[in-house]
Amino acid sequence: MIAQYVLTVPISTLFILNSNTMHPAYRMNMFRRLWLGFRMFWNTVWIPTGTTYKTHLAMALKVLETPPDVKGDVVECGTWKGGCATNLSLVCKITGRKLRIYDSFEGLPEGEPNDRYAKGYKKGDYAGSMEEVEENIRKHGSWMSIWKPAFIRVFAGFGLTL
Ligand SMILES: C[S@@+](CC[C@H](N)C(=O)[O-])C[C@H]1O[C@@H](n2cnc3c(N)ncnc32)[C@H](O)[C@@H]1O
Repeated sequence: MIAQYVLTVPISTLFILNSNTMHPAYRMNMFRRLWLGFRMFWNTVWIPTGTTYKTHLAMALKVLETPPDVKGDVVECGTWKGGCATNLSLVCKITGRKLRIYDSFEGLPEGEPNDRYAKGYKKGDYAGSMEEVEENIRKHGSWMSIWKPAFIRVFAGFGLTL
């Protein structure tokens, strides 16, 4: 299963990033696409992530398809240990966008009794810290692409605080 996952990396990268709707301003030739895909895969090996490598590629493609004159930042709501944020920061570096990271850093809240998706999870699962997210992005991503102040701590029900 792991071997299959690893062996499909170049194919997934080519299939997902081989889009002629990617904006030419980002100058993503085949080598740069493969290199980005490889780095993103490698990051998912080192940083735990709640989403898959292929999901990260699909998100990357959407950002790379967005023309540079369309203003806006990339926002991640819920980062855990920053696995996906690290990869998005690489895409933000290429596209000149900022990545905003929102989290309570308290993990999952208590599930509603009738929420079938909450089964198998408990309060506090997926709790990361700002420090480990920052460390992961600095080590494996592009810290300069993070919107500063780096993190927005969201308290469910209490709005936003910096
Ligand atoms: C599944 S993890 C996110 C995984 C991450 N996007 C990735 O790809 O690795 C869910 C995250 O959302 C945060 N979270 C969950 N419910 C929240 C809430 N109500 N308010 C703020 N953050 C919340 C948790 O602290 C946790 O970091």
